Amino acid sequence: MTVALSSLIVPLDVALDIGTAHSRLATAQRGILFDEPTLVAIDTNTGSVVEVGHGALDMVARTPRHVVVFRPLAQGATVDFDVTARLIAGLFERAGISKLSRARVVMSVPSLATPIERRALRQAAIQAGAREVSLIEAPIAAAIGLGLPVQDPVGSAVALLGAGASEAAVISLGGIVTGSARRQGGNDFDAAIASLLRIQLGVVVAPAVVENLKFHLASAMGRTRGLSQVVLARTVDRGELVEVDVDADLVNAAAHEVVTSTVRMVQECLGDAPPDLSQDVSARGLTMVGGQAQLADFAELIAANTGVEVEVALEPDTVVIRGLALCLEEMSSLYALFRDADR
Ligand SMILES: Nc1ncnc2c1ncn2[C@@H]1O[C@H](COP(=O)(O)OP(=O)(O)OP(=O)(O)O)[C@@H](O)[C@H]1O
Ligand SMILES: [Mg+2]
Repeated sequence: MTVALSSLIVPLDVALDIGTAHSRLATAQRGILFDEPTLVAIDTNTGSVVEVGHGALDMVARTPRHVVVFRPLAQGATVDFDVTARLIAGLFERAGISKLSRARVVMSVPSLATPIERRALRQAAIQAGAREVSLIEAPIAAAIGLGLPVQDPVGSAVALLGAGASEAAVISLGGIVTGSARRQGGNDFDAAIASLLRIQLGVVVAPAVVENLKFHLASAMGRTRGLSQVVLARTVDRGELVEVDVDADLVNAAAHEVVTSTVRMVQECLGDAPPDLSQDVSARGLTMVGGQAQLADFAELIAANTGVEVEVALEPDTVVIRGLALCLEEMSSLYALFRDADR
């Protein structure tokens, strides 16, 4: 009897969440295996990938001229197809997934992604060695990660606030009933802080320092007034290294646009929901996920502007990848049913 080699290879299922700031990979058996910055360092002489994730971050501004660090996503979408494929291949390698395993991949995609963006994401995973790619809308993956009853005829509300994209959705019977989304997120907040530092204080500050100012001084309700933090900066005019004391008012002024736009987005989404689902959301509340859900007092502000109870998920930035990993578990149990029936 001959046995086809392909039938001896156990199919491997992999969950991928390729975000603007962070990329994550998980398997159903081993959980989250990669959760690092969406960065790829490439040797432009040879075209080979030198590092992905943290390793590539360490190389930013420290590389020899022939090594370039790429950020292949912006505003939730792939802006460089080839580099995205290399990033995914790098994630597979770091997670010990060989190209030969021809993984079946479940991937999240922002609900506002265009058909071309979806195709680019799928093709990037296939170029990286995936055999099959299923895309799941990110808010649905988030709701599954939260353990909400997405398949039931009951309205579940989530707001997913990332670095490059923000989306709110009311989900029922396995689909998004009403949704609202913006190509805007934590990165835009950081850019607004950097811009005010330049205009008001005449200095330029490293991106990681800007983000740190946000973590320590920002409040969606301006409650951090009076706090300040001293950081190292370079003057715009002469390039001198100086220490500046940045106060919370500057950071909160920078927050204004992204915060008000997010509140409006959630209002739009909830306002569009049919009455029965609206009632469900009023009774059951809304859960915030994604890294930017951790912005201080954001949940309270959204609750005050929607009249709905709002809570921030535990470890909000890994909810989507955990939801995708749960999908894998379901899929493998379904495949097992097919195998049993196939005897
Ligand atoms: N405590 C905090 N306060 C404010 N913002 C925060 C906090 N912690 C993380 N963030 C922001 O959350 C963002 C990262 O979130 P996340 O990892 O969910 O994004 P992503 O998945 O890479 O992006 P996207 O899904 O939009 O493509 C960053 O902009 C980061 O600065
Ligand atoms: Mg994300």
